[in-house]
Amino acid sequence: MTTFESRNPSRFTSVVTTVELADAPTFVAACRNAHDAQPEWASIPAPARGRVIAQVGRLVEANKDALSRLVTEEIGKVFAEALGEVQEVVDTCDFFLGEGRRLYGQTVPSEMRDKQLFTFRVPVGTAAIVTAANFPAAVPSWYLVPALLSGNTVVWKPAEHAAGIALAMAELFYAGGVPRDVLKVVVADGPTTYDGLETALTKGLVQKLGFTGSTDVGRRLGELAGRHLQSPCLELGGKNPMVVMPDAQLDLVVEGALFSGFGSAGQRCTSLGTMWVHRDIYDTVRDRFIAATEKAIVGDPFADVLFGPVIDEKYLINHEKNLAMITDRHRVGGSTGIGRITATNPRAGFIGDPDAGWFVHPTIVENIAPGDALYDTETFGPLVGMGAFDTLDEAIELANGHGYGLSSAIYSNDPQTIWRFREKISAGMLSVNNTTSGAEAHLPFGGNGRSGNGSRQSGIWVLDQFTRWQSMNWDYSGSLQKAQMDLIELPCDMDYRL
Ligand code: UN1
Repeated sequence: MTTFESRNPSRFTSVVTTVELADAPTFVAACRNAHDAQPEWASIPAPARGRVIAQVGRLVEANKDALSRLVTEEIGKVFAEALGEVQEVVDTCDFFLGEGRRLYGQTVPSEMRDKQLFTFRVPVGTAAIVTAANFPAAVPSWYLVPALLSGNTVVWKPAEHAAGIALAMAELFYAGGVPRDVLKVVVADGPTTYDGLETALTKGLVQKLGFTGSTDVGRRLGELAGRHLQSPCLELGGKNPMVVMPDAQLDLVVEGALFSGFGSAGQRCTSLGTMWVHRDIYDTVRDRFIAATEKAIVGDPFADVLFGPVIDEKYLINHEKNLAMITDRHRVGGSTGIGRITATNPRAGFIGDPDAGWFVHPTIVENIAPGDALYDTETFGPLVGMGAFDTLDEAIELANGHGYGLSSAIYSNDPQTIWRFREKISAGMLSVNNTTSGAEAHLPFGGNGRSGNGSRQSGIWVLDQFTRWQSMNWDYSGSLQKAQMDLIELPCDMDYRL
């Protein structure tokens, strides 16, 4: 067994959670427990499961402050955003508690007499859910809540760096009435999880895989699920574009770019990747965005700052790799330095002790163009690209050209421009006069291309991930009626003309 210490990224000498990392057999054993518990859980009437979700929601609400504090301590998200993240768990429970009394199927007319057709949603079975550290409470709830509500059992593999939050979340689910074998939490590293999953899939213990994380890992997990004839729910990376038209309200643009580019230290899958600005207003927007970024406060995530530390040292290393993609053609701005913030590479206005944590300068990189590594690499850190365009069609081509398709935004008040953007943008989500981040918890969330396999989370749409349609036909005619052969046709006159 390996011991893993999840540390506070603002003060990395401070250990927040210590966990033993599970080995692959432990992962498989958890899948077996959850698999064995599934028929009993599915036999509980959905409205009663909905009550359990309601209780979980109320408990999360009652513990909002403590859970949010843990989010800020363990992954460094600023406290105001951590409160928002935990609220998203509550919102998700609020949405699904009622779904327990719906989970609608349909009655469908038959083409024959004395026969009736029906559809039913049936749970898929046991779901293995693998989640990232950047949204350690909200994104897991997008999986756990609908999966449990619709009668599945769950094995949840959270990110090691968010182990404490995951264990706390699980306790809230148990306190709310979810039996321990119905939701299992297994903290393991990536390769071990892969091995455990492969075995569990082979043994028929897992029927659904949900994954939020990088495109590379998503590809591997998608292949693994595909070999077992399963369609996974994959929520992967993004390089989310913001298109700024000449009629845009520039205060909104700058505020939106700051929030989506640098909020959560750029570690949202919906973070702003590149801001594409119409050439007529490019210099103005650039100057204002750089000035606002320079002025923004970075530091202690419990203080009133734009962003705190990155989640862990490995995210800092990744950020430094991304900085190495900046070439002579690019122009850099936004801070008093680039890379890690330290006493010798300071950030003006920083709050706290930069050397104690993994703090990073915000960086704006201008002159991004197709062909640059930064054009089509998800950076997942406080780095925002900028580029200019002349026509809307060109902006849309730039916005789609990298093959990611998660979130996108356009700032304009012109209906023709907005509808054309909606029609042509390949992203699964678009915002008008709002940022690429900040999806509400009951609208479909998910991407296309390199951002996912088309699966959608949230709202009623996620039910298609955690249930399968069963169709039933019931013939009470007392004779064998043959579909497509025993036709009922009324006489008609096809030669009739007015
Ligand atoms: C993610 O980064 O995986 O829209 C999810 C947002 C948040 C969720 C992001 N509500 O930015």
